[in-house]
Amino acid sequence: MLKGIAAILLGVSALETTLSIALQRPLVVRPKTPLNPYPHKERVVFHEDGTFKITVFSDLHFGENPDDGIGIVKDANSTRLMRGILRDEKPDYVVINGDLITGDYTFRENSTLLVDQIMAPLIEAGVPFSSSHGNHDNHVNITHLDEILREQEIAPRSYTRSAGSGVGGVAGPGNYWVPIYATAADATPALVLWFFDSRGGVSTDGSPLPDWVDASVASWIQSETAAMTAAWGPASSRSALAFVHIPPHAIQAVQPTLNETESPGLNDDILGGGSVQDSIDHPAGRDVPFWKAVGTHIENLHVVISGHAHGNEWCAREPGQGLLFCFNKHSGYGGYDKDGWGHGVRNVVFGSPNPKQGVETWIRLENGDTRGRVVLRDSRIVI
Ligand SMILES: *[C@@H]1O[C@H](CO)[C@@H](O)[C@H](O)[C@H]1NC(C)=O
Ligand SMILES: *[C@@H]1O[C@H](CO)[C@@H](O)[C@H](O)[C@H]1NC(C)=O
Ligand SMILES: *[C@@H]1O[C@H](CO)[C@@H](O)[C@H](O)[C@H]1NC(C)=O
Ligand SMILES: *[C@@H]1O[C@H](CO)[C@@H](O)[C@H](O)[C@H]1NC(C)=O
Repeated sequence: MLKGIAAILLGVSALETTLSIALQRPLVVRPKTPLNPYPHKERVVFHEDGTFKITVFSDLHFGENPDDGIGIVKDANSTRLMRGILRDEKPDYVVINGDLITGDYTFRENSTLLVDQIMAPLIEAGVPFSSSHGNHDNHVNITHLDEILREQEIAPRSYTRSAGSGVGGVAGPGNYWVPIYATAADATPALVLWFFDSRGGVSTDGSPLPDWVDASVASWIQSETAAMTAAWGPASSRSALAFVHIPPHAIQAVQPTLNETESPGLNDDILGGGSVQDSIDHPAGRDVPFWKAVGTHIENLHVVISGHAHGNEWCAREPGQGLLFCFNKHSGYGGYDKDGWGHGVRNVVFGSPNPKQGVETWIRLENGDTRGRVVLRDSRIVI
C-alpha cells in the first residue's frame, strides 16, 4: 500500500520534472478541485510591476470558400494579422471571442483541422489563451464542442474547457472561467476571466439553435461565485472580465443613445434582428436571467466584451444594471465586411491587480493604428 503511494508520488514528481524542464521554471502540481481547474498547467500571473495585457481576437471566420483561391488568401491574411499583432503586442493572455470558423463551408471529415490553422500562431508564440464560440462555429459539420476538444488536443497552453451546466446538454459546452493570479504563489486569484456560450447557428441535424446564453447558466454563475467566495474569501478582493460572442440583448437599446465622446470607435453596424442575443422573435430577449446573474453575482466586473457585429468597436454603459460593455474588433479577413472597417484586435491592459483600479482598453488595427482608447473604472468610461 505504502509502496503504491510512493510509486504514485514518484510518478507525479517525474511528470513535474518533465513539465518543469519544458517550461523552464518550477511547476507546482496542485490537486484538481472545482476551484483549481488547471492543476497541471502553469499559472497565469500578472507581471511583477503589476501589469497584465490581454489581446482579444474575434470573428476570425476561417474556412470560407475552400474551393476557390479567395478562401485560402483570406485565411492566410488572417494568419498574417495574428502573427504580426502577437509579435508587436506581446500579450500576456489571448482571447478568441467566437466565430473562429465559418461552419457553413466545412466538411465533416476535416472541419476541425481549421482549429489547427487558427491556433498555430498562438502555439508558436507560446502565449496562454482561451476561446469562446459563436453562431458560425455551430453548423452541420462542426460544433462548439468539436472545436473545444480539438483545441485541448493540440494547444498545450489553451485554458478553454467545459465547466458549466451545459456540458453535454442544452446550455452549450463553452461556459467556464479562468483564474489569473497576482503572483504564482498566491492562494487565490486576483482576476477571473468568464466565458459564456451564446450558442446560435445550426445544429448537426440542420435545425436552428437558440442564440442566447441559457437560463441554466444563471444558476451556474450563482453557485460558482458562491463557491469562490466560500473558498477564496470576499469577492471584493478580485475583479473580473466576461467574454460572450453575441452581445447581450440589452445592448441593442444602448446604440441609439450613444454619446460619441464617451464611446469612441467605429459605430457602423446597426443592431437589428440577429445581432444581439435572442433578438429575432422575442422582444425582451431570453438572455435576461443570464444578464441579471452577471450583474448580480460577478463583483468588480470591469467589462463584458462581445464580437459578432463586425462594424462596431465602441464601449458603453448599459443603463439597466450599470454594466460596461465593449465590442471587439473584427480580426478575420473572412466574415462580412465593408471597405474602411479594417481588421484588428481589442487590447485590455491592467495597471495593477488591485480590483478597484480601472483598466485601459483600445482598438489596434493590423497596420498599428489605434483608436477608441478609454479607461473603464467604477462602472464608468473615462476618456
Ligand atoms: C489580403 O491582404 C492583402 C494585404 O492587406 C489585401 O490587399 C487583400 O485584399 C487581402 N485579400 C483578401 C481576399 O482578403
Ligand atoms: C458536410 O460534410 C459532408 C462530407 O464532407 C459534405 O458532403 C456536405 O456537403 C457537408 N454539409 C454541409 C451542409 O456543408
Ligand atoms: C477539407 O476537404 C475539402 C474537400 O476535399 C477541401 O476542399 C478542404 O480544403 C479541406 N479543408 C481543410 C481545412 O483541410
Ligand atoms: C457626452 O459625454 C461628454 C463627456 O463625458 C460630456 O461632456 C457631454 O456632455 C456628453 N454629451 C451629451 C449630449 O450628453
